[in-house]
Amino acid sequence: MDILETLKDNGQSELAAHLQNLTGDARKNLERDISTQDWKELKALHAEKSAASLIDNVSSDLRPMPFKIASDDLRYDYWKETGEILLGKGQVAAFLVAGGQGSRLGFDGPKGMFDIGLPSHKSLFQLQAERLQNLSAQVGHAIPWCIMTSPLNHEATVNFFTENNFFGMDRTNIRFFEQGTLCALSPDGKAVLDGDRLALVPDGNGGCFRALSQSGTLAWLIERGVKYVFLYSVDNALCRICDPAFIGALASEGRSMSASKVVHKANANEKVGIFAFQNKKPGVVEYSDLPEEYRDMTNPDGSLTFDGGNIAIHLFKIEGLRKLQTSKLPWHTARKTVCGIENCWKFEQFLFDSFPQLGTMMPFGVVREEEFSPVKNAEGCDSPETARIMIGKLHKEWLKKANVEVNPNKLYEISPTISYAGENLNRRTFERELGKGILEFDEK
Ligand code: UD1
Repeated sequence: MDILETLKDNGQSELAAHLQNLTGDARKNLERDISTQDWKELKALHAEKSAASLIDNVSSDLRPMPFKIASDDLRYDYWKETGEILLGKGQVAAFLVAGGQGSRLGFDGPKGMFDIGLPSHKSLFQLQAERLQNLSAQVGHAIPWCIMTSPLNHEATVNFFTENNFFGMDRTNIRFFEQGTLCALSPDGKAVLDGDRLALVPDGNGGCFRALSQSGTLAWLIERGVKYVFLYSVDNALCRICDPAFIGALASEGRSMSASKVVHKANANEKVGIFAFQNKKPGVVEYSDLPEEYRDMTNPDGSLTFDGGNIAIHLFKIEGLRKLQTSKLPWHTARKTVCGIENCWKFEQFLFDSFPQLGTMMPFGVVREEEFSPVKNAEGCDSPETARIMIGKLHKEWLKKANVEVNPNKLYEISPTISYAGENLNRRTFERELGKGILEFDEK
């Protein structure tokens, strides 16, 4: 159908008129933006969401998902070895979702480029790249790395990697691709314009399944023989990328299509999704959707009932990702000021909404101090400062466990090129690397 007609049929006559007034490149660009959108779906979404409450309804049948700290399990070493074997066979890939806008941090660029102020001044991307490289070397196989960006930060992301020579990684093992976008709508459902372009917003991290498939990346992974995909967020400074024990645990368990890392919530108000069964189906309820009564509910011993916090680290079997190529995830909405218009609609999908569609999933409990330090806010909790301190304390613990005498008043940063998760450390390494791969710093 003609583009103008499609617009008119779906309540976008003003946009059609605007397009007709443009010429040359401006017209071509707007036409291109328009062609990326499903106008019928946008119209339906606006109608559906206008009629509903903004907070997504949580079922009355909500039960917590029990989990255990995996490192306390007697099978932990076995899982780790199993994961290392799978990594060594090239059956595992890393998948970073980094298309978000990071607006809370107040950093105007891809969040992965952010320097959290460690003495090395490494960016989040560099920390991740070095962990992957160290693990690849240990298992004897280069781990493929898929990086999802959005049209808003794709170029800046790829340029950053190129300028940094892909942090020494083989370029052919890294694949960048963009997620989709949805046009923001004004309160009355009209497409919002940003100058002569559409105000396009990334379609949420749940767009990752569509993008993985449509970009050809899923086929690329399948061709390489990948069977497990480790999916993680850009902002966790402590992420143990492609953690072998996590991979081995899912591989050994057999039934589940996916696994997720879980921590005990720091407190009722912590802004993390919680793992729960809704109407007997496993999944995550986002913090913004969790009613207070559930958020604050406690067990007889005083602990939180809904205690399983989502740290946005998941593992999918490739069959699961194949299935999710065509399945539909629900849309969540947020009302925000866009291009000066108040109360606009933004639509997003959440990747964890795939879990109820995949059947059983495996929760894998981890220790917060070892694996979760998100960089969300410029100051205060979950900030660059808290991440720096958590890394400093953890790495100091690693040194102490390796019987290294450390300065009790200092914190330490150990380069991921020396140690991926605390291994390979001793007094000789410490003495050799201090001031190079191991850096001392003050808490304040
Ligand atoms: C997310 C989780 C939350 C979890 C928390 C842990 C979702 C929806 N929420 O919250 O349950 O407790 O992490 O830190 O996953 N992203 C994209 N494209 C987008 C939007 C986001 O790739 O369109 C990426 C971001 O770049 C980031 C990740 O998804 O890597 C998380 O995104 P964000 O929207 O910031 O969710 P949080 O509020 O951090």
